Amino acid sequence: MTEEIKRSQSSADEAARQQQFMDKCKVYVADFADRHGRSPRACVVTFGCQMNARDSEKLIGILHHVGYEITEDENADFVIYNTCTVRDNANQRVYGRLGELKGYKRRNPEMKIALCGCMMQEPTVIEKIRKSYSFVDLLFGTHNIFKFAELLCATFEQEGMLIDIWKDTDQIVEDLPVERKYAFKSGINIMFGCNNFCTYCIVPYVRGRERSREPKDILREIEDLVADGVVEIMLLGQNVNSYGKNLEHPMSFAELLREVEKIEGLQRIRFMTSHPKDLSDELIRVMKESKKICRHLHLPLQAGSSRILKAMNRCYTKEQYLELADKIRREIPDMALTTDIMVGFPGETARDVEETIDVIRKVQYDNAFTFIYSQRTGTPAAAMEQVPEEEVKRNFDKVLKTVQDTARERVARYQGQVMDALVEEVNENDPTLMTGRLSNNTLVHFPGDKSLIGQIVDVSLDECHGFYYMGHRV
Ligand code: SAH
Ligand code: SF4
Ligand code: F3S
Repeated sequence: MTEEIKRSQSSADEAARQQQFMDKCKVYVADFADRHGRSPRACVVTFGCQMNARDSEKLIGILHHVGYEITEDENADFVIYNTCTVRDNANQRVYGRLGELKGYKRRNPEMKIALCGCMMQEPTVIEKIRKSYSFVDLLFGTHNIFKFAELLCATFEQEGMLIDIWKDTDQIVEDLPVERKYAFKSGINIMFGCNNFCTYCIVPYVRGRERSREPKDILREIEDLVADGVVEIMLLGQNVNSYGKNLEHPMSFAELLREVEKIEGLQRIRFMTSHPKDLSDELIRVMKESKKICRHLHLPLQAGSSRILKAMNRCYTKEQYLELADKIRREIPDMALTTDIMVGFPGETARDVEETIDVIRKVQYDNAFTFIYSQRTGTPAAAMEQVPEEEVKRNFDKVLKTVQDTARERVARYQGQVMDALVEEVNENDPTLMTGRLSNNTLVHFPGDKSLIGQIVDVSLDECHGFYYMGHRV
């Protein structure tokens, strides 16, 4: 038997095993419904990135499949927090909200509370929850999320806190139920984990080593999604540019994109995240030639100072980054560039921050997510000398202001033009308006009705308001 067949067989076996647990859960859920005269309600709360959002769709898929009614109200019969630990404030939010859940549970003794996701891969977190949050029923991690049906089943069968955390895994289990948040767009994992070990970052420790999915599994999943009404997909990975290196038959990310492009009925392709160190000329060529790849590239800078980039283990210099951004803009002038920037990495001086500001001015991002560096236990940077908080705040405000000023100008450059927008939802503040997303990821609000949701329509971009447009259909 070849490795590939063996692997897909074990994935199929595991999916079948989980299906049996789902059948068992259905019985418990039916019993609850008999006793209470209603279905149990489940609430899934997601913290963190797109990968977590996709994982939550898998959790919801299973909960729905076994008979739960899905609600956004945390006063429910089953509540699960899918956690993030990339910065400490993400952790603090979870602890804060757990306090509230305790009150709900006191009034609803049958309530089950579960925690999963990246925070759970940290032993100190598990210790803290055991000690101070003993009312939690289930803890599991990122590597065994495919066992959710089995663990859910166990919460009906045993008392006390159930903890199942794996250190790592090479397993990728396909074909479990998924419930998408949007009917017309979807994220798709193309790889899991990360091997880069940027010195500030916890992700490689909590998500494990890089593993790519087989291209045929990815393509089949996208084909199924398109058959189910999806027009836009986002390929997900911590570093999509290194996709395929560990496959039995290695394949580059650019080659995968070429295959995805061929899928009939699929209209838009996005991907996240691109690490600047691995962005190939081949990828730029594929993006340039593509009719479906959106005109948006998220290219995290982190810092503009080559000295700091080296200490971060980012494997590029300021000059290399600028050269890359320049090359992309030369080849594809309408490509929107967005980025992540961190302020306050150990040892960062005011002069280093000026370098970051210089890159922002030169690249002219369409948008940038700015973060204050957060010390993560166990990462190399946590042991380095930290920058005083006051100084970090001052520098952060400067960086944020530069981002806002330059992005405002950049985003406004299409004012007066007509562009196609994928209509996503009714505007949050004004129900007479619809919200659509342009290929370059900018949002546009325009008069319309719900029937347009999921369609790609032409919109005139009448007025730019900072990071979004007001417009009308043409
Ligand atoms: N794989 C992606 C990033 C994933 S984490 C990449 O390499 O770009 C998303 C963002 O969180 C990062 O780009 C970084 O800007 C930020 N981040 C990661 N660790 C952080 C830390 N310790 N403190 C503050 N921000 C951090
Ligand atoms: Fe973290 Fe760096 Fe991996 Fe991104 S590439 S997830 S920042 S270690
Ligand atoms: Fe957070 Fe985990 Fe994503 S730490 S950013 S949810 S991979």
